[in-house]
Amino acid sequence: MKELALRPTIYKYKCAKDFAKDFNLGKGDLVITSEETYKIFFEPLNLDCNVIFKRRYGTGEPSDEMVEAIIKDIKTDFKRVVAIGGGGVLDIAKILALKDISSIADLFNGNLKIKKDKELILVPTTCGTGSEVTNISILALNSYGTKKGLASDEMYADSAVLIPELLNNLPFKVFTTSSIDALIHAIESSLSPKASTMTKLFGYKAIEIILKGYKTIAAEGQAAKDTLLEDFLIASTYAGIAFGNAGCAAVHALSYPLGATYHVPHGESNYAMFTGVMKNYIEIRSDGEIAVLNQFISDILGCNINNVYEALEQLLNYVIPKKKLREYGMTETQIMEFTESVLTNQGRLLANNFVEFDKNRIYKIYRELY
Ligand SMILES: [Fe+2]
Repeated sequence: MKELALRPTIYKYKCAKDFAKDFNLGKGDLVITSEETYKIFFEPLNLDCNVIFKRRYGTGEPSDEMVEAIIKDIKTDFKRVVAIGGGGVLDIAKILALKDISSIADLFNGNLKIKKDKELILVPTTCGTGSEVTNISILALNSYGTKKGLASDEMYADSAVLIPELLNNLPFKVFTTSSIDALIHAIESSLSPKASTMTKLFGYKAIEIILKGYKTIAAEGQAAKDTLLEDFLIASTYAGIAFGNAGCAAVHALSYPLGATYHVPHGESNYAMFTGVMKNYIEIRSDGEIAVLNQFISDILGCNINNVYEALEQLLNYVIPKKKLREYGMTETQIMEFTESVLTNQGRLLANNFVEFDKNRIYKIYRELY
């Protein structure tokens, strides 16, 4: 059994300037980022890069249409793709580093050969997706009404670069939705049947850093996040290493139809499913790794293990209030539609569940959270 694959070389810099100098950013580089990040951190460096701003192709999380529009607009040759942004920007860059991408739907449906022919440098500016260390690109496939992940070793970055300075301007809401995503990566991957001693080393450490950070925020207020950015950036990379090897599962699977249909930020739609999925796992099986996990979390929270998810929800509600699915606009008929969408499109994730969920169970979870 595979214990752990570690692909990109991971770098950490104090500031963007040091990174630009060390990596010799300039001609032949295609940079994809946001206007705000570029203006503040890179424009003063007068780099001779070809720059693409994601927001010009639409707001929110990336879609097949967005990536196709970007590809159409790239006129010059480039040897390196440098993505500086949130998970969406990083996921787009993984596609741009591939050779001959004519149709994104064909690529995601397995009808195109996946071959990387550019160097890929990924620089996260949020503390959630861990995309900088995974081989997965997740896009909304608008024609299918869901999100889908494409995983291939060709999509590993060559370099993952951590620069805490880039997170300085992160709004509190983005900080929380992205870090909850990282927490859920760490938890889902640690419960996955593919988890190993080594993936759990990264997973459990990420859980500890993030929960302790949330406790600090709950005690000291939202401004405390500014002192936690480097810790959270490292924790989200740890979580990325864990789930890049052991996978995510039902929380992500159930979250995708909601996120794609109602444009709910990824971490927030995950949180809407999170405790509902965990409680259903425990209903089916409460021993094994979930018992270890529940003990680990209750030790950090200082709560009774029998109330661990109530206590966790109470803590998480300090940073992001949990909503019922209907509050996002979901309708009652969509409980069945989403259940069927999960069964049809998210087999890759459901395979990593702590225990198997059948159609009735998925329907039940959506119903309970509705
Ligand atoms: Fe995620």
